[in-house]
Amino acid sequence: MSDTESMEVAEVDAPAVPKEKSSTAQTRKSHLPWIEKYRPTKFEEIVGNEDTIQRLSYFAQAGNVPNIIIAGPPGVGKTTTILCLARILLGPAIKDAVLELNASNERGIDVVRNQIKMFAQQKVTLPAGRHKIVILDEADSMTDGAQQALRRTMEIYSHSTRFALACNNSEKIIEPIQSRCAMLRYSQLSDAQILAKVMDICEKENVRSRALKA
Ligand SMILES: Nc1ncnc2c1ncn2[C@@H]1O[C@H](COP(=O)(O)OP(=O)(O)OP(=O)(O)O)[C@@H](O)[C@H]1O
Ligand SMILES: [Mg+2]
Repeated sequence: MSDTESMEVAEVDAPAVPKEKSSTAQTRKSHLPWIEKYRPTKFEEIVGNEDTIQRLSYFAQAGNVPNIIIAGPPGVGKTTTILCLARILLGPAIKDAVLELNASNERGIDVVRNQIKMFAQQKVTLPAGRHKIVILDEADSMTDGAQQALRRTMEIYSHSTRFALACNNSEKIIEPIQSRCAMLRYSQLSDAQILAKVMDICEKENVRSRALKA
């Protein structure tokens, strides 16, 4: 085989499209703020609250996950944990089988009655034995009326949909919802845990600073 022929074969073996795709993904990642770029995607990458993560890991392995509430201070990984859990349970189906509503979404009673109910009724192809997941961030800011409606939706669609709520103050979640969920409590991370994570990111980003070394 001549050199030209072997070059042509090499080009066919390595088509340009996947290369472009991966470099586009890389560029997209490099433009992300570090808080998103380094958001853990697996349980093992989440710092702290090991017991709770372990418990969730058991639930996920058994595929038998109840409705959950993760309560704790801001910025300790509540939303991240729920997203990791959804990824384990649903794999690629995550894009169709998860409804994520955060504080920037309107979450009054109408949203529960319409958007959440509609999602719970939708037919989606899921891995065997798995459920669709509704993620409600900052659930403690939902009105009592919306929470009452949510409680009924939780009951009616328990065969098809699981709910994962994150909140700072679990006392603001009405009792009937609390009693239908496993309550997981996150505590604040220690300074040492946070520093270790920051140092790790600085190393990956080639940030050198005397202040950090000190
Ligand atoms: N335990 C953790 N381990 C590693 N990174 C973390 C952890 N907690 C938070 N982070 C970082 O902080 C970002 C925000 O975390 P996350 O949104 O999960 O916090 P939260 O507990 O949901 O906060 P809030 O109460 O404000 O919604 C993540 O993208 C990640 O970069
Ligand atoms: Mg959150």
